[in-house]
Amino acid sequence: METVLSGIRSTGHLHLGNYYGALKNFVKIQDSYKCFFFVADIHSLTTHPHPSDFHEGVKIILSEYLAAGLDPEKSAIYVQSDVPEICELYTLLNMISYVGELERTVSFKDKVRQQKNNVNAGLLTYPVLMASDILAHRATKVPVGKDQDQHLEIARTIARRFNTLYGVEVFPEPVNMDFGSGAIKVPGLDGNGKMGKSEGNGIFLCDDEKTISKKVMKAVTDAGPTTPNSEMPESVANLFKILSIVSDKSTVDYFKEKYNDCSIRYGDLKKQLAQDICKQTLPIKARIDDIYNDAEYLHKVVKQGADKARESAAATLALARKAIGFKAF
Ligand code: AMP
Ligand code: TRP
Repeated sequence: METVLSGIRSTGHLHLGNYYGALKNFVKIQDSYKCFFFVADIHSLTTHPHPSDFHEGVKIILSEYLAAGLDPEKSAIYVQSDVPEICELYTLLNMISYVGELERTVSFKDKVRQQKNNVNAGLLTYPVLMASDILAHRATKVPVGKDQDQHLEIARTIARRFNTLYGVEVFPEPVNMDFGSGAIKVPGLDGNGKMGKSEGNGIFLCDDEKTISKKVMKAVTDAGPTTPNSEMPESVANLFKILSIVSDKSTVDYFKEKYNDCSIRYGDLKKQLAQDICKQTLPIKARIDDIYNDAEYLHKVVKQGADKARESAAATLALARKAIGFKAF
């Protein structure tokens, strides 16, 4: 069975884009792959979160992933900082990672620009820690967004370099996991581009009915079609796209017809859209709230996940240490 692994940043909440674009696929593959899903809390230290918010961020994202269907019985679901073997591997892999190649990473250059006063070494070696996350379990498939492709490339380089340097086959080279037709892009509510974390553009799984309705009613549209069968502006096409994700086909067809004969009222479309989003997300929200408030359950989940992840990472580390030449006296 192939091993799949994905890391989740512990900042913010999950939005519809994360859910339909990534999570739903994660949920589906849990039976056919050996899966590792973890909260990358050590990675988030590169931006210095305040200690009083730090744990909260981890708890929120964990509750949301579990509520959306990640199953701790099927997958290893853990918190990165509960698995010290990852940090040991990170130390070892840092010795074969070159400053030059890390400095060329787009994400590093972006951060240097964004946080001029906090260009810490963790930012530079962020891809090495990510490689350690992946290689610790010798994962071969890593489902991540396009923005992470360069980091995956570095993970492959490090894996190859280790194997070559020590003449071993310890690390397989991980590739992005493509969900093919399952790869849904969810647009935002602000008229252009995809849904993201930014204010006003996204609907979160933890939003209540009133918030969802308010956000959808405020979504950008135009003045309405005046000639039959005219092309939709991006803002309206985006609302239809979201409708096609959350509603049934007959509803989409109904509003398309109304658009094409110019009788559409965007208020009606939005009301329906808000209602159908709620139908999908409110049951998840209820589970998020339950899980978030169930300290005993969360404790059990992360303990179980850390046990599985530590066992797997320790086995890899033993191979890596042996290859490097560490020996017991
Ligand atoms: P991010 O929250 O941007 O780090 O993304 C985490 C995961 O969610 C990645 O696999 C992304 O590809 C996916 N994702 C984020 N936004 C969207 C979106 N609007 N539509 C589809 N997938 C998305
Ligand atoms: N860097 C990833 C992101 O920003 C999160 C992450 C950390 C990750 N470690 C990983 C993703 C390992 C995949 C595999 O989204």
